[in-house]
Amino acid sequence: MPPSFPNGFLWGTATAAHQVEGNNVNNDWWAFEHDPARGVREPSGDACDQYHRFRDDIELVADLGLRVYRLSIEWSRIEPVEGEFSVAVLDHYRRVLDTCHQHAVLPCVTFHHFTTPRWATDDGGWEQPAIVDRFTRFCERTVAHLGDLIAIANTINEPNIVSLMGWLVGAFPPGRHDLGLYATVNEHLKAAHVRAYETLKAGPGDFPAGSAIAMGDWWIEPGPDSDETLTRTRDMHERQHLEAARAGDFVGVQAYSRTRLSAAGLPLGPEPGRRVVESMGYEFWPDALEVAVRYAAEVTGLPVIVTENGIGTHDDAERIEYTTGALRGLARCIADGVDVRGYFHWSLLDNFEWALGYEPTFGLVAVDRTTQARTPKPSARWLGDLARANAVP
Ligand code: GCO
Repeated sequence: MPPSFPNGFLWGTATAAHQVEGNNVNNDWWAFEHDPARGVREPSGDACDQYHRFRDDIELVADLGLRVYRLSIEWSRIEPVEGEFSVAVLDHYRRVLDTCHQHAVLPCVTFHHFTTPRWATDDGGWEQPAIVDRFTRFCERTVAHLGDLIAIANTINEPNIVSLMGWLVGAFPPGRHDLGLYATVNEHLKAAHVRAYETLKAGPGDFPAGSAIAMGDWWIEPGPDSDETLTRTRDMHERQHLEAARAGDFVGVQAYSRTRLSAAGLPLGPEPGRRVVESMGYEFWPDALEVAVRYAAEVTGLPVIVTENGIGTHDDAERIEYTTGALRGLARCIADGVDVRGYFHWSLLDNFEWALGYEPTFGLVAVDRTTQARTPKPSARWLGDLARANAVP
């Protein structure tokens, strides 16, 4: 196999604190999961107990031959009450990052991955401008403690999904349907990213930092308004956050599928007859990654890191098929001169998929929900082999 990726291309895998650590009882998601009116399939509970089993998980990443582990730190553990920072929890994360370095794994640290401390959300959360200072202070204190061990940083994971799911769709906390608040929350998320980026760069350590934006492919029903609908949709869901991401050393791209809309912009659901990723209800669409990477590079002018891409399937052969398609698209981007620095597969572990609970399985590694035993799937070895060859068949 001739290499299809540049020398030094970073191969990795990703998780997020609330999806794997277990018992993150002090954030908005925990409260939301335990409110029966919210329709979350099941609570996160012990998750993958990674808070205690991080050494095993990091060893697994290293054994698979992957060089980067993208993980997130839990704000509600580090700052359980406003202004009160736990040195013991910060030391826990120092041990996590140290363990990565001991195994020659580069830690990519996400500072906000969907969860916000309850003291902040009880006081207006992302709807109030105070959140920008609060998040900045959290970044400042945390980077002071951890900065020397960070290899890559993500400020806010998928700000566009936080606002969309929390304030339009209502399936994430705080479960609202309010277009005005949605716009306000977007402004606060963008401002928080820019301030966080400046704060992280000013702290100890020397690492690239950037945002991570959820993107995808779009299909608009042909009609007189389709071009305008495509532009409006992309502006709202992607472009405004990509423009804010220009405050960054790279842009993180996360892509999974495509969305079909009527010419007027209404969601149509998967195209009849097309293959669907059953657990997620969206189309099996590996080309999403190529489309997203090209668009993100064009809007930001920054190098790209694919900070997430993967598939929630119980059929591991389908994971390999999907990822092969996505990586071929990525190789085409690179062949055309797009500056892509790495690919982090979502996810290392089968984990808590938010409102959908543990039903979708995105992991390269299966997790027994009773014993917490980890079992690598064939796709895990397969991806490790690609990483070593630095090529896709
Ligand atoms: C997101 C998050 C991840 C998800 C993953 C699979 O994109 O929603 O960053 O937490 O688990 O994308 O849906």
